[in-house]
Amino acid sequence: MGELKGRVALVTGAARGIGATIARVLAGQGMLVAVNDINAEAAGQTAECLSANGFRACAVPASVCSAGDVQEMVARVEEKLGPLWLLVNNAGSFSHGPTAEMSERAWDEPFDVDAKAVFLCSQAAIQRMMPRHGGRIINIGSIAGLIVRTGQIAYCSAKAAAIHFTRCLAVEMAPHGITVNCICPGMTWTDMLSTSAKDRGLDVESMMAMIPAGRMAAEEDHAHLVAYLASDEASHVTGQVISVDGAQSLYHPLQL
Ligand SMILES: NC(=O)c1ccc[n+]([C@@H]2O[C@H](COP(=O)([O-])OP(=O)(O)OC[C@H]3O[C@@H](n4cnc5c(N)ncnc54)[C@H](O)[C@@H]3O)[C@@H](O)[C@H]2O)c1
Repeated sequence: MGELKGRVALVTGAARGIGATIARVLAGQGMLVAVNDINAEAAGQTAECLSANGFRACAVPASVCSAGDVQEMVARVEEKLGPLWLLVNNAGSFSHGPTAEMSERAWDEPFDVDAKAVFLCSQAAIQRMMPRHGGRIINIGSIAGLIVRTGQIAYCSAKAAAIHFTRCLAVEMAPHGITVNCICPGMTWTDMLSTSAKDRGLDVESMMAMIPAGRMAAEEDHAHLVAYLASDEASHVTGQVISVDGAQSLYHPLQL
């Protein structure tokens, strides 16, 4: 995928976890990578680590939930690295608990980060990509947006919104040469999953039993698909929702 070389990517929520690995894999393809995160120090460290390895990268700390901050962030990316080719909407936030006891905040947070921010960042990106007639938007959804997970109503609903947003925007952007796709990770062992598993008293073995492929996704499984969808080879692939989950979302462990 040589044509990614020298092109500019912005990855949100990229200080750690899946986002940091996406940033590293894209940098390895020769892309110039802007590392966003609300955690400014960690974003700086991730960008420095890429630069120390000989890649061109910069940190653009901001909350992706604020329209003003997002506009400034995208302007900063173009100032520092050049015209934006790829936006990866990866930042995510999770909440869980029974619906009857759920606080307003526990509803709003996933909707702000997993749904509204996808709109705000995509809007700022397409405003710049449309006049250039080209670009890529890749949303990191979740299989939680495709199936029902009890006790995760806000997260599931916010991810479902991001998935349908992907399809709607893909149709609108197709005449402008901009593709919009969504990757839905299954269980991937990151800080987000380990914290939520600990909070809910889940053990790794019972989680693994839910995955026909017998392993969790690796962060690289998602990152390599991002690199493909960002490439010229994928120019006719748009509006697609692709699960990377070892068939987890298809499986119900009921023995009849
Ligand atoms: N880990 C999994 O099993 C799994 C499964 C399905 C989907 N996902 C999705 O993959 C994406 C990455 O997940 P992860 O497991 O690496 O999570 P993570 O919690 O390790 O990383 C998420 C990052 O987003 C950042 N972030 C949160 N709010 C932000 C904001 N307002 N502005 C900017 N940055 C913000 C956090 O600081 C953090 O660095 C998320 O969208 C998540 O929903 C993860």
